[in-house]
Amino acid sequence: MLQTEKHYVQWQDNETSRNSRWLSESNQPPPARIVIVDDQTTADQAYRFACEGTSMLWRGDFHNARQLLQAMTRRIERTEQRKASKAAKSGKASTDATAIPNLFHLQRQAQGQRSRILSRVLLELDAGYSSRLRRAPDFSAACTAAFGELDEHCLISFRDLQGALGAAQWREKGVPISSLDLSIFPHYGVFAPTRHEYVQLMLDAPLPDTHDLAFDIGTGTGLLAIILAQRGVQQVVAIDLNPRALACAADNIQRLELTNVQLQQADLFPTEQPLANLIVCNPPWLPAKPSSPLEYAVYDANSAMLRGFLQGVSKHLAAQGEVWLILSDLAEHLQLRSREELLSWFSEAGLMVKYRLDTQPKHGRSQDATDPLFAARSAEITSLWCLTLRQQTE
Ligand SMILES: C[S@@+](CC[C@H](N)C(=O)[O-])C[C@H]1O[C@@H](n2cnc3c(N)ncnc32)[C@H](O)[C@@H]1O
Repeated sequence: MLQTEKHYVQWQDNETSRNSRWLSESNQPPPARIVIVDDQTTADQAYRFACEGTSMLWRGDFHNARQLLQAMTRRIERTEQRKASKAAKSGKASTDATAIPNLFHLQRQAQGQRSRILSRVLLELDAGYSSRLRRAPDFSAACTAAFGELDEHCLISFRDLQGALGAAQWREKGVPISSLDLSIFPHYGVFAPTRHEYVQLMLDAPLPDTHDLAFDIGTGTGLLAIILAQRGVQQVVAIDLNPRALACAADNIQRLELTNVQLQQADLFPTEQPLANLIVCNPPWLPAKPSSPLEYAVYDANSAMLRGFLQGVSKHLAAQGEVWLILSDLAEHLQLRSREELLSWFSEAGLMVKYRLDTQPKHGRSQDATDPLFAARSAEITSLWCLTLRQQTE
């Protein structure tokens, strides 16, 4: 998931040939064509360059680069609106049964295109992430926290840099989780629980009678493991594939001085552990291909993690144990997965539903009537499915 290989980009700095490290969090290939731009470059020129696939190395004032990006975003939005109204007039935006998944895929394509265009404004940074641009703030701490140490000159997109700066703010301020009376501190590249209505479900579900050992599969910031530990589960093993998530969970667990949460890097299930009485999982909830490592927490191609979790969970669960699966039904409203399919996966895995708790998300996007996917988003329900082994009662 994370970029482990180093990539380099060859470029012309006026008459001089240069070779620099290429940093791209979204795994964009090194740019094939780079021109040097500065405060004299207009937003129209920059937008044209970006649309034709030319990257721009910014040599102007640091804050003007931010404004340039905002001006380019407005041009992208205008183009998207023009395309949408043209499609509506030509009757392409039909409302037949396939329109909703199509809308979702078109929106994902548009997001991808927007990200590629905006990622074409580049900055050069020296070792330690220092910048020579006028009015550039010191972002070495934010970048080191996000991308690791840098001991050579690099080119990076201004957008990736903004991502690191934004993450550093979240990490410092934390995300308050009011129902727990604590804050969680997300790290760069880790799912931030800003939509945390499911926390209440985790608090409302009665713990199984025996709760000496629980697993949290895909722990992210460690939030669900922390809830279980605070609710009295004696030992919690929290798993994630993403090393950034494990470092983040370790940070949050340490801040709360919890000594009964153990972390393990694994694909789904821990190794060398006895059977657990409770296994919780809040998997990425949309069956679609992640377009960058940062999207792995939200998008799950072909529901691979969800299905892998369901298929494997019975081997790790004690006979009287419970599985708590946190899952939004947005994928159902987007017609990307049906309820029947989900229920059949439970059944094929030898699981049955003991009960289900529901909550309705209240986040901004579910209230935004201008969003083309408003109908689906406003109908979304997040559930805690309590599942048990079928043979237990048969
Ligand atoms: C939606 S986030 C949930 C994070 C956290 N449990 C919460 O509720 O806030 C899904 C998490 O699953 C992790 N993940 C995805 N695939 C995984 C796999 N195969 N094995 C372990 N963790 C995985 C992601 O890295 C991410 O942290």
